[in-house]
Amino acid sequence: MGHAMNPSPRHVSVLSVEVLEFLAPQPGQVFVDATVGGGGHSRSLAERLIPGGRLIGLDRDEAMLELARPRLVDLPVTLVHAPFSRLRQVLDEQGIEAVDGVLADLGFCSDQMDDAARGLSFQQSGPLDMRLDPSVGEPASALLRRLNERDLADLIYRYGEERFSRRIARRIVETRRLAPIETTEALADLVRRCIPRSGARRHAIDPATRVFQALRIAVNDELGELETLLNILPNCLKPGGRAAIISFHSLEDRPVKIAFRDRSRWEAITRKPVQAGAEEVSDNPRARSAKLRAAVLL
Ligand SMILES: C[S@@+](CC[C@H](N)C(=O)[O-])C[C@H]1O[C@@H](n2cnc3c(N)ncnc32)[C@H](O)[C@@H]1O
Repeated sequence: MGHAMNPSPRHVSVLSVEVLEFLAPQPGQVFVDATVGGGGHSRSLAERLIPGGRLIGLDRDEAMLELARPRLVDLPVTLVHAPFSRLRQVLDEQGIEAVDGVLADLGFCSDQMDDAARGLSFQQSGPLDMRLDPSVGEPASALLRRLNERDLADLIYRYGEERFSRRIARRIVETRRLAPIETTEALADLVRRCIPRSGARRHAIDPATRVFQALRIAVNDELGELETLLNILPNCLKPGGRAAIISFHSLEDRPVKIAFRDRSRWEAITRKPVQAGAEEVSDNPRARSAKLRAAVLL
């Protein structure tokens, strides 16, 4: 993809002040940024770990790591291409037993969304791929070819919370009999034709939004990744170590909330999810749906 991407990250980090406040990085500590992305959070965390500390940064998208790298060269940062479900193995490979803090800022970056070749956006025409790591798993177009009508409907309902899921699944199956659905445009048009755009829905979000979210979650096993991270975090942090997770929709926020509620392991340091203030949202609309939860490992 490299060619289509900007030379420096376009992504604007969300809740930057709050991340530092709740993770409280100190000189000499070791931190993990589980989702380096454009490197904004990695940079501000790593700056506070010197002298003596270091940051291990993971991303499942190698292209994002390459984009972030120049921004981090002067800091004690080690970048590793891996999904965060492998965090324990990554720390073992680095000879690290436990760390002082972990940040995970879930989902995708603006740079990935803007890259038409990724097929993440229905506003741009591109192949229906959606993999954040194109070397792993199958593209969304393969999923649309392979799943039966019922499984498609379930996927769209569960991960997209789309109430017209059955109608959309039926239309997918009818359409693919004639020709495979291989582009973002073809899928977005198909979905828009299934959903009445009248009355209250006229001003609602684009009808394709939920179906694209559902496919992205499925293709990247996003909820499985998050579940694994939440399970392994206690084995990666020192007692007293801090974790902060930023999520962008309720399917992600719910498991984080439930995990941090376990008082035998965690002391939550955010009572309610922390959200961006009006000023941040007006500068960066993406911040509107961000929710940060943080906890200390007992
Ligand atoms: C919202 S962006 C992070 C932005 C970053 N905090 C910054 O300040 O620029 C999310 C990043 O996480 C990566 N990502 C998503 N799921 C992942 C996973 N399971 N493991 C590792 N990286 C993941 C994406 O490739 C993307 O680069």
